[in-house]
Amino acid sequence: RPKTSLSGRHVLITAGPTHEPIDPVRYIANRSSGKQGFAIAEAAAEAGARVTLVAGPVNLPTPAGVERVDVESARDMERAVAAALPADVAIMVAAVADWRARDVADQKVKKDGGDPAPLPLTTNPDILAGLAQSDKRPKLVIGFAAETENIVPHAQAKRLRKGADWIVANDVSGDVMGGAMNTVHLVHAGGVENWEPMAKRDVAARLVERIMDEFPD
Ligand code: C5P
Repeated sequence: RPKTSLSGRHVLITAGPTHEPIDPVRYIANRSSGKQGFAIAEAAAEAGARVTLVAGPVNLPTPAGVERVDVESARDMERAVAAALPADVAIMVAAVADWRARDVADQKVKKDGGDPAPLPLTTNPDILAGLAQSDKRPKLVIGFAAETENIVPHAQAKRLRKGADWIVANDVSGDVMGGAMNTVHLVHAGGVENWEPMAKRDVAARLVERIMDEFPD
């Protein structure tokens, strides 16, 4: 019989974009709104979980009963995730920037007129992969995969590569970024569940129901 509550469970969620500083006035960012991650945090709290929501820069209210930690960069987010452990479930929804400026300038970088532009990049840590390999790995580690084509095969490869239990693959070829709707496929060791297009809050509710199945009393 499935448990009908997540009470006593700690659910750790990342959401939103990250901002990677270049100099005092510039940063690298992406179009993530944070809506899907915030909706999952709200649904998990409603299901009785203790929820830690590590949020990049977004314009969203904190859901009731959720402990929110605001961060800017990927490395800040990685530290905040580590500080929030242990957790029973981790749901990494954030659109973490793949790259950051190799050197952050103290003063505004001047255009020198030449090409290539003076912006050497370096690769950010993969927070999901790091968590999945850590000693403090949560029992259930869930990643998201925003794809525009070959959605399920890409997600299956990502699940194995990152060591996640589940990947929620979403089709971002339409107006998903910033919009209210989402079309997702839940990819796990047992196969693929194709969910019909639905509101992000309904994706959140259904995902939390599926998580509850993994935590019977
Ligand atoms: O590799 P890709 O960015 O497509 O993977 C997406 C998944 O990995 C998401 O769950 C995202 O939150 C997570 N991720 C992460 N740290 C990164 C890049 C992605 O946690 N640096």
